[in-house]
Amino acid sequence: MSEPNTVYANTSALIALEAPDYPSFLFCPKELKRSVKVFKKGFDGLLTYAVKCNPSPHIIKQLHEEGIKAFDVASNREMELVRDYAPGAAMHYNNPIKSKREIERAYAEFGIRSFTIDHPQQLDQLASVVTPSRDIEVTTRFKAGKALKSYDFGIKFGVLEQAAAEIVQLVDQMGYTPSLCFHVGSQCEDAYAYERHIAAAARIAEESGIELKRLNIGGGYPAPYPTSEAPPMDHYFDTISTAVKDNFGKNKPELIIEPGRALVTSCTSLLLRVKHQRGGQSVYVNDGAYGSLMEVKFMHFTPPVRVWRGPRLHDNYGEFADFTIWGPTCDSYDVLPQVFTLPSDIDEDDWIEFGLMGAYTQASLTPFNGFDRRDQYEVEEVYTGKEMQPAE
Ligand SMILES: Cc1ncc(COP(=O)(O)O)c(C=O)c1O
Repeated sequence: MSEPNTVYANTSALIALEAPDYPSFLFCPKELKRSVKVFKKGFDGLLTYAVKCNPSPHIIKQLHEEGIKAFDVASNREMELVRDYAPGAAMHYNNPIKSKREIERAYAEFGIRSFTIDHPQQLDQLASVVTPSRDIEVTTRFKAGKALKSYDFGIKFGVLEQAAAEIVQLVDQMGYTPSLCFHVGSQCEDAYAYERHIAAAARIAEESGIELKRLNIGGGYPAPYPTSEAPPMDHYFDTISTAVKDNFGKNKPELIIEPGRALVTSCTSLLLRVKHQRGGQSVYVNDGAYGSLMEVKFMHFTPPVRVWRGPRLHDNYGEFADFTIWGPTCDSYDVLPQVFTLPSDIDEDDWIEFGLMGAYTQASLTPFNGFDRRDQYEVEEVYTGKEMQPAE
């Protein structure tokens, strides 16, 4: 995928000049800047970014330029990206599952001094590579009940309160610096889940009898998909700051936040071209479940869509119909589960633009069936579903 160079005014201008025939991501730096501002204004602590959400160099680079000084990384490859595009930034190795070789590289090559675990054996594993010292932060990931509405990570990661208190004690006894973290699940539309986890963190600290260095309240903040029932972001920030005050009082640890989705969703739209239309019910586009629509497929999020016929928005004079959207591969799995309402005469060579496509899209592209090219463009104005760009 090429890096942005020319800047286009909007989608219409891009189509007029390039008529993109490959799946294309349209990135708007101004919108990314706006999202960072929301977190900087609302959160009183260390704002970091979860690289896994969108590891594109232009995203990492701009976030660093906007003042993000630390990144959550899950693999050695993500560490390389941060080193290359955000030189000098701190990294927190927050994937509990690591090999000794990966830990060695993280410590020696990338200078990482913060590691997350969720099992006592991982403490022994870490100690076999990284000599205990108070310069090394070991963060225990815990869980405190599933959020009412989120994509749950608790099935895979996190220990319950009692076990977390025991691990925190072990971390301290071994001579590392103990911290705690949690993740309420992605696209968490239940702000109370943060309050519940912060209260649990305070109980774990009390039970272990150890003062925490930091509390990492993770990611999970929601993107404004049309189907979202989440309260506004300010409600999350207020809930978090009140819960920290109420539960920790004067013993407040330093706070870290590591959003992915809520930072990068709105800065990118996705422009796919129609290859075939069948029976007024099915459209076949040039990327799908094995590419940029992987998350739309398995998480069932429904992004906003609009249709272009050449550089003009196309609404077929208000005649719409319900369509199934298929990807380009030779696999019947390659279809979206949602029904999309599109102009009833949508046809080959039109484009469908999906808004709010910056998160978990560029992160999960595959070359299945040889569909390995996606292009990258920069635009001054991006489609988010809220506003309509004027057609030329
Ligand atoms: C440890 C960790 N932190 C942060 C995130 C980002 O979460 P979100 O994109 O829901 O904000 C993830 C996502 O998987 C994660 O695993």
